[in-house]
Amino acid sequence: MKLFVDTGNIADIKKLVALGIVDGATTNPSLMAKETRNPRDILKEICDLVQGPVSGEVVATDLDGMLREGRELATISEHIVVKVPFGPAGVQACKTLTSEGTRVNVTLVFSAAQALLAAKVGAYFVSPFVGRLDDIGAEGMELIGDIVQIYENYEFGTQVLVASTRSTLHIVQAAKLGADICTCPPAVIEGLFKHPLTDSGLERFLKDWEKAQQK
Ligand code: G3P
Repeated sequence: MKLFVDTGNIADIKKLVALGIVDGATTNPSLMAKETRNPRDILKEICDLVQGPVSGEVVATDLDGMLREGRELATISEHIVVKVPFGPAGVQACKTLTSEGTRVNVTLVFSAAQALLAAKVGAYFVSPFVGRLDDIGAEGMELIGDIVQIYENYEFGTQVLVASTRSTLHIVQAAKLGADICTCPPAVIEGLFKHPLTDSGLERFLKDWEKAQQK
């Protein structure tokens, strides 16, 4: 399963890319709004750093606007994947941009029915939001299982990009369900490294080694 970093923060991306575990990146308007620089420049820098798929989202809500912004985003780098919000306009924009050779990530997906429509119009990625489903008392990971099964049934090429991840458990469950990608905030990726037994185990190894040196 691939790991993408879900942020527009260059310093965080640099730190994680250096670890060799980042396969791509995703952004959204809320994440971009936290940064001070021009979003286009940020996306370009992320593409150069990550050297893998980088999702940049349109903010238009009508078809023409989505197409205009999507085509402009696609000129930033060969790594750009245009992210469009799910809905009738997003679905049409996905079909048109895909037919022009631009890869599209259909986002804000909260049901298997929506994921089915995204696949039918050739989405490169579909982004179901697990954390936000959990937040309203639904079972976010159940949706991932459903989408993986539907895509397998019909051999859709759309990749399942699990978004709105909040914990290590989300990532492990996504991997068990056969999702293609998880996109995670930097803190969630850092959390994947942690285990108290690793820390205490290393401490014990080093103490034992030190004692042996004093003999
Ligand atoms: O990029 C979309 C998604 O990952 C948002 O996550 O935490 O705002 O629900 P969150």
